[in-house]
Parts: sequence; C-alpha cells; structure tokens
Amino acid sequence: MEHEENALVLMQAVAEATAKAAGRLALSYLVENKPLEIETKGPQDFVTAVDKAVELLIRNRLRAAFPDHAILGEEFGLDKDGARVVWVLDPIDGTSNFMRDRPSWCVSIGATVEGKPVLGVIFDPVKDELYSAALGRGATRNGQPIAVNQDGTMNKAVFGVGFTSGKSVTAHARQISHILDHGSEYRRFGSSAMMLAHVADGRLDGYADARTSIWDVIAGLVLVREAGGVVEDFIESGAQSGSIMAAAPRAAQTASLLLAIDRQDGQEPRP
Ligand code: IPD
Ligand code: CA
Ligand code: CA
Repeated sequence: MEHEENALVLMQAVAEATAKAAGRLALSYLVENKPLEIETKGPQDFVTAVDKAVELLIRNRLRAAFPDHAILGEEFGLDKDGARVVWVLDPIDGTSNFMRDRPSWCVSIGATVEGKPVLGVIFDPVKDELYSAALGRGATRNGQPIAVNQDGTMNKAVFGVGFTSGKSVTAHARQISHILDHGSEYRRFGSSAMMLAHVADGRLDGYADARTSIWDVIAGLVLVREAGGVVEDFIESGAQSGSIMAAAPRAAQTASLLLAIDRQDGQEPRP
C-alpha cells in the first residue's frame, strides 16, 4: 500500500517535470518563430511537427523513468500491450489554437493503473500554469490547492462545450440554446483538456462532450474529481473514446443534461 503511494508520488513528480519541459519546447517554436510544418488530418483536424517532437520528448522521458509502463499517445499510439500502468498523453491539446498562436493549448499527461485513472497533469505554457492531481491526494495549480466552483447560481455559471467534425450540429446548437435559455454562458476553448482544468479550478462550472478521445480528457477528469467535482466518463470501460461530463456538484445536473442533449442524433451526416 505504502509502496503503491510512493510509486504514485514518483510518477506525479516525473509527469510534472515532463509536462513542463514538453510545454516549454512547444512554446519555443512560437517564441522563436520556427516553422510548424502543419499537416491536415481531416476537416479542422491538424497536426504539426511540434506535436510529434513534443510527444517524442514525453515518451523518451517516461520510458527512461518507467521502462515497464506502457505509453499511449495521440500521435504515436500504444507502445506495448498488457502493462499494469499505462500513460495516456496528448502532446498538444488545442493544436488549432497553438498553430495560430492563440491561447488555450496545453500538454496533457494522465495515467491508469489496472485501467483506473490515477494521475492527471496539465501544463498551460502560455499562462505558465501547471495543474496536477493524483488519486486521493487532491488537485493543485502551481502548487496551490484548487477546488471546483461552489456557487451554483445558474445565471452566473459558465459551461464549456465542444464540437468535433462528425457530431450533430443540431444537437450542439440545442446545447447552446439550453445554456443561454437558463441564463448561463458558454465557452468553446478548442481544447478539451484546458476546459477540464478550468472546471477543476472553478474558472468554468462544467463541461460536457459526447465525443472525446481518452488522451483529451483523462488528465482533466482526474483533476476535476480530485478538486471535488462530479465526473461521468468512459475510461474504466477500456474504450479509447466516448462521452464525458465533468462539473462542480451544484452544476452537475445541468452538465448531465447538456451531455444528454449532445448525445441526441449524434450520427447526423454533415456536408
Ligand atoms: C482537440 C481538442 C478539441 C476537441 C477535438 C480534439 P487536438 O484536440 O481537444 O477540444 O473538440 O475533438 O481533437 O486535435 O487539438 O489535440
Ligand atoms: Ca486532443
Ligand atoms: Ca493533440
């Protein structure tokens, strides 16, 4: 038991240092105006040479520290089957913001032990903010404890929403109507991980998205849970994608409803 706790503390320390190094590498491309080598993966879906370079940096550091663990990353996939501990990472979440030198992109590193999410570290290089949480150990931002928003007033609440090509435009519009009809506000950052980090520290009240990938959300879900929030997710099912909601307890009912709306007619064809 004590051994498990020590192992988690070590993993968290390595993840924090790695996320910072990775974020600083990515930021250096913008600061020094280096070519990003943008490729298009699909409609509004991009990858740059920086995403790949950052993922390799993270993989090399994690592999050096924990040779028995597996690593699943957005750009290079899963390196081995059957490991008890699996690191799950998105080198840059919010690439569309990153490549336009807009804020709201981050490095996201999470981990599961026997399929259970135990660790979440998110680094926002633009604001120089490091979010970190481990199962049963609380959540912090730059070392200070954070908590979800305690104010449940709907006409002060701000919800994060997401949209990805292939989702129903109608359902997304209904989600937004529901939020505005109830006197709340919405934001769409273009980075699921950043929206979850902002639910964890109370800058947002909730976030719901019917279509996410595990590397977008795992770290943020651990952060929200450890910051006292309510979470519905697919991670322990073993799936690599699915729907999630994460919210302050007083906004959880609304966030669940927003997820239910987002799930409706989700397969609608798009032009
Ligand atoms: C994207 C962001 C965005 C979500 C997209 C993701 P990327 O990740 O998380 O919020 O709506 O589905 O693909 O491509 O910037 O890593
Ligand atoms: Ca992502
Ligand atoms: Ca990414």
